[in-house]
Amino acid sequence: MTARILDGEALAARIRKEVASRVEQLEAHGVTPGLGTVLVGDHPPSRRYVDMKHADCAEVGITSIHRHLPADISQDDLLGVVVGLNADPAVHAYLVQLPLPAGLDEEEILLAVDPAKDVDGLHPVNLGKLVMGNPTVLPCTPAGILELLRDNGISLDGKDVAIVGRGLTIGRPLALLAALKRPGCNAAVTVVHTGVPDMAAHLYRADVVVAAAGQAGLVTGDMIKPGAAVVGAGVSFEGKRLLSDLDDSVGDVAGWITPRIGGVGPMTRAMLLRNAIEAAERSVGG
Ligand code: GUN
Repeated sequence: MTARILDGEALAARIRKEVASRVEQLEAHGVTPGLGTVLVGDHPPSRRYVDMKHADCAEVGITSIHRHLPADISQDDLLGVVVGLNADPAVHAYLVQLPLPAGLDEEEILLAVDPAKDVDGLHPVNLGKLVMGNPTVLPCTPAGILELLRDNGISLDGKDVAIVGRGLTIGRPLALLAALKRPGCNAAVTVVHTGVPDMAAHLYRADVVVAAAGQAGLVTGDMIKPGAAVVGAGVSFEGKRLLSDLDDSVGDVAGWITPRIGGVGPMTRAMLLRNAIEAAERSVGG
């Protein structure tokens, strides 16, 4: 492996420190920021993610409010929980962990979240603002990826960026964000997905590749232009072992690469904290 590492853990630690000092400033004004999480069912990776989010909150001084609900909860009861969180002044921002168990209408739930408390940036109003080029709250994983690239001196300005996957939480919002007319973005974006037969041809042109498919080893070294920056954002699991969308061969060709652990994951969580503190600051007119 010759690629330089995009160390998300180190940058996330710095962002947690920044958030912790913003928490202290809010506390001085009598406000304790609160982040809510809603977990429906017992999907093990989702449980782990939510636990880590709470640990991060504890580290930076954000109060976490958790609702753990049974997998067979009805749509109406889940909507009731969302309405309750919207009304709770101690909850400045919250998320409903996705995916929801089969049978629940994810879109209706996301629509019910108060856009001002939407820490994920996935409410249609917030996604719509991103489409309009004027985002208020950025989806956490796309924002974390851009921050990680920027911190390592990798600008997207005028570059070819290829994104593998068009999912709601990563690929689709990242494509919008990377193409925004603003410094550090301004990219020529290609989104490849299961409907594109020759994925490799698109990836090979790219200066930056972001794999967000959730298919282990999907992106291999022969698809990558030598020296490109490659970000593995999609994960899958083999038992408890977390697998990357990036095959090990990518590290021999890329100029930059995220590690299997400690790349995008910590950055997503750091952006969640930043979105939470920003929601709390907005709530007091900050
Ligand atoms: N599940 C996987 N990624 C995410 C995310 O960014 N937000 C939420 N709410 N659920 C997720």
